[in-house]
Amino acid sequence: MSALVRFGVSLDGELLSKFDSLIKGKNYTNRSEAVRDLIRQELISKEWEMGGIVAGAITLIYDHHKRDVLGKVIDIQHEYQSLIISTQHIHLDHHNCLEIIAVQGLADEVKGLAATLKSVKSVRHSSLNMASTGRDII
Ligand code: NI
Repeated sequence: MSALVRFGVSLDGELLSKFDSLIKGKNYTNRSEAVRDLIRQELISKEWEMGGIVAGAITLIYDHHKRDVLGKVIDIQHEYQSLIISTQHIHLDHHNCLEIIAVQGLADEVKGLAATLKSVKSVRHSSLNMASTGRDII
């Protein structure tokens, strides 16, 4: 980590009041940590936009009784095996499965994997958590 640098920010009082209220609701103890997290989030968004190496998690919910859904989800994961670090399958109840797929790779390829999984019929929910490898954020 590089040296800590302090800088001043001028804000409209009403905007600052709204910011303070927002970060209080998120349990930040001070503005600096909230601003750091906002900056990190923007840097991560830029990583995804620029198409670099990213990391994240794809979450799926599906009913394993539905025809072929499990086979299709597994086939796709084998097809994109180079992007997948780990998969966790949780049996939520008699019907529903939760699958969490940890991924790392080129942003466009990871988005492609997420879109392909989402398009499988009988996948009830699919989301992509766009995180970071952590290498380019402090
Ligand atoms: Ni299951």
